[in-house]
This record gives sequence, structure tokens and C-alpha cells, in this order.
Amino acid sequence: MKPKVFIARKVPDEILEYIGKYCDYEKWDSEGKITREELYKKLSDKDGLITTGTRIDEELLSHAPNLKIVSNISVGYNNFDLDAMKARKVIGTHTPNVLDDTVADLIFGLILSAARRIPELDRYVKDGKWKRGDDLNLFGLNVHHKTLGIIGMGRIGEAVAKRAKLGFDMDVIYHNRSRKPEVEEKLGAKYSDMEDLLKTSDFIVLMTPLTKETEGLIGYKEFDLMKKTAIFINASRGQTVNEKALIDALENKKIYAAGLDVFEKEPVEKDNHLLKLDNVVTLPHIGSSNDQTRFEMAKVGAENLIKGVCGEVPPNIVPELKSI
Ligand code: DGY
Repeated sequence: MKPKVFIARKVPDEILEYIGKYCDYEKWDSEGKITREELYKKLSDKDGLITTGTRIDEELLSHAPNLKIVSNISVGYNNFDLDAMKARKVIGTHTPNVLDDTVADLIFGLILSAARRIPELDRYVKDGKWKRGDDLNLFGLNVHHKTLGIIGMGRIGEAVAKRAKLGFDMDVIYHNRSRKPEVEEKLGAKYSDMEDLLKTSDFIVLMTPLTKETEGLIGYKEFDLMKKTAIFINASRGQTVNEKALIDALENKKIYAAGLDVFEKEPVEKDNHLLKLDNVVTLPHIGSSNDQTRFEMAKVGAENLIKGVCGEVPPNIVPELKSI
């Protein structure tokens, strides 16, 4: 008998076929997210689950007595309650590597957009406001030869650093739990303590995973330390930033601008004050999302799932769950 799995998000047909060779699968086909109650029913006899972002906690696990693996199709895994999964010996996997360059490209898109005010000026032209040649009010800031500070130097941080150094002649500084000698050597990136990074960077890219330690990492104190010309980019998780403090910094011109792929609450609420500000560029959490990369991520997610339900060791178990 094949292992039973539930696929709680859309994945390409080719990937479904591949999963079907090894597993009996059921999938969520409707628009919108599956409700918790529905998911609990589906999981009552399943050995594996593919998802993105579903909170995997004790309550869910108590409805899934046979579950061996949760395969996240995302690199972030802040949806895992690691203690609950450890206690129940449920493996959790994610999809690193295949999305690094895609996310790094998008981060550079945010950097350029916020610095040169590209979305704002796009609206200006389309709204028919372009009346004269050289309006000083439209000028933004340079990116090249500036200092980029990266908080969280993982694989994506490194891909951002590479673009900054090799493409834009930027000086790269970074703050991370551990030093990265290979990035220092290859790209001349310099390790910095948090305070100096915040004080000296022209661009600050936040890429740290969301954990208890990084929740609200950037707040009033941190924005106050930044340069008035600083541009702040968040492509990690919305909860790593105190959004009220960010609004305060942008409104009161404590910093120049922000580029955001993530928000405290997603989808962002219509009346979120950030959406009213010209000096913020917003995106709908789309860092890794294009057909090609999402296909690769789904493939890695499927490989992890199949190995996990077939009793093999999946290649991408999240570090905290490797020893269960
Ligand atoms: C990830 O993979 O964690 C990205 O944020 C997309 O969800």
C-alpha cells in the first residue's frame, strides 16, 4: 500500500504525477486556503503533508496521528512549532537554494525602485503629470558605490551581496549570528555589529528568518539610528519589524524610503497606513514567486515529502529537527 499524503496548496500537474507514483494523494482544489477544520479531517489518515505557511502546532498534530513529515514549499519555516513537532517526532522540511537568486533579484528590484522612486514616477507619467523636462522634485538617490548593510547573511543574503558588489560596486557590510569567512573573502563583505550597520548603511536589507529572537528586531530605536537618507528593505517576514515604528520613520522622514515584500499581516489590510505613503514600495510577498522557481520549489518539496513518507531521510530537514 502506498503512503497517504495531503497536498494543501496548488502544485504543477507534473509534480502531482511524480507524487502519485509513490503516494496516494488527496489535494486541496478550491480557491482560497483550506480551513483548519477541513485540514484536520483530511489529515486524520495521512502520512505526509505538503503546504506553505500552515501553522503546524500541537492542535494540528493531535488530529494527524500518522503524520511523519510536513514538507513546506518555502524556505521560511516560521509556521512550524518546532517543539510540538519534536515532541511528536514529525519531520519538517523546506526548499532552500532553488529560490536564492530569484529572491535576490527581487530585493534588488526593491532597492532600485525605492532609491530611484520608480513606481511613484511610473504613476506620475501614466497620470499625465509629466509637463516639463527637469523637475528636481522627481530626483531620487544613487545605488552604485553606496554601502549596503545586510542583516541575516544566509544564502539569499549572499546572493544580494554578490549583486551589490559585482554589479553596483557597493561596499557590503553584514550582521549575522555567525561570521561568514567565505563571503568576506569572495565579496569583501565586512562583519559589523548591529549598531554600526544601522548607523553607516545607505541601504539596509533585512533577511533574517522569523524566530522568537528576531520578532520585532527592527523598531523605534533601530530606525532612529539609521541615516536620514537610508533605505530600508524587508524581504524576510513582516513580524521582524515593528510596523508602527516603520510608519513613524517613513512619515517623519527619519529614513528616506522603504521597500517591502512582507507585512505584519498578510494580505496587507487596505487601511494599513503604509499604503498611503509615497516613500514606500510595496509588493505582495512575491520574492520567490515566478513559474520557474515555484516549479523548482514544488519539485524539491515533493522529493522531501516522498523520502519522508517512504522512511528515507529527506535532504532538506530544517536544522532544528535534524536530530529527532
Ligand atoms: C519563502 O520561501 O519563505 C518565501 O518567503 C516565499 O514564501
